[in-house]
Amino acid sequence: MNITILRFDTIDSTNTEAANQARQGAAEGLCVIADQQTAGRGRHGRTWSSQKGSGLYFSIVLRPKIDTQSLPLITLMTGIAVYDTLKEFGVEPDIKWVNDILVRERKISGILAETVETPTGLAVIVGIGINLTSRTFPDEIADIATSIEAESMMMGPRALDPLAVETKLASFIGYWYEILLGESGRSEIIQNWRQRSSYFSGKSVRVTLPANTIDGTTDGLEENGALRVKTRDGSVTIVQAGDVEMLREVSHE
Ligand code: BTN
Repeated sequence: MNITILRFDTIDSTNTEAANQARQGAAEGLCVIADQQTAGRGRHGRTWSSQKGSGLYFSIVLRPKIDTQSLPLITLMTGIAVYDTLKEFGVEPDIKWVNDILVRERKISGILAETVETPTGLAVIVGIGINLTSRTFPDEIADIATSIEAESMMMGPRALDPLAVETKLASFIGYWYEILLGESGRSEIIQNWRQRSSYFSGKSVRVTLPANTIDGTTDGLEENGALRVKTRDGSVTIVQAGDVEMLREVSHE
């Protein structure tokens, strides 16, 4: 994949811009990066705090030839790439299905994958936000979020170079995307995700679905990246999309 970078000081949302670029024919590999976003978007219509210099705001145009059922694999592939990027900067992350990268249960990065119809077929816009510093966190996320600066075991007083983070990220996405498109790509992505995520199996979770909420234990992933959750009665629910949160064991002493 050929990586091309389109850079902005300020933009509403790099995902919106990348979608517009894709509609106008942008090739796979176009990355839109901004220093700040005025309308950064998270999942479920949430906003993504995007102050200048506080985070990496990055969106890439992909044009994968895979069925729409397998789109969760794109998010999983991206999670692996973000995980590997963070490791390079001395951070020990975990991946929470399907789009959250955590350190000590605090969010350090989120992924927003969106599809867009374009004249040359369906494109997937993968947006990634990585927190670089915690200093500018708004009050409402201060206790639940973290950053490379706060978690890195090797940065010391050295300032974090955002350019180094974006370069590594683009290169890991290129690497893992090629793997996904390869012959046994799906199983390789699932295997590699498994090695990086404590959520793969045996984790007590609560899943919020559009119609209901289920409590259970994670039980691996389906071939298309959907999450299997086993409930108390032994039945398995296959979660294609939904919010997953860890359930802490309640002690009954
Ligand atoms: C989430 O965890 O809810 C997903 C957050 C995704 C944020 C990124 S920042 C770059 C790109 N542009 C956006 O507007 N959103 C994504």
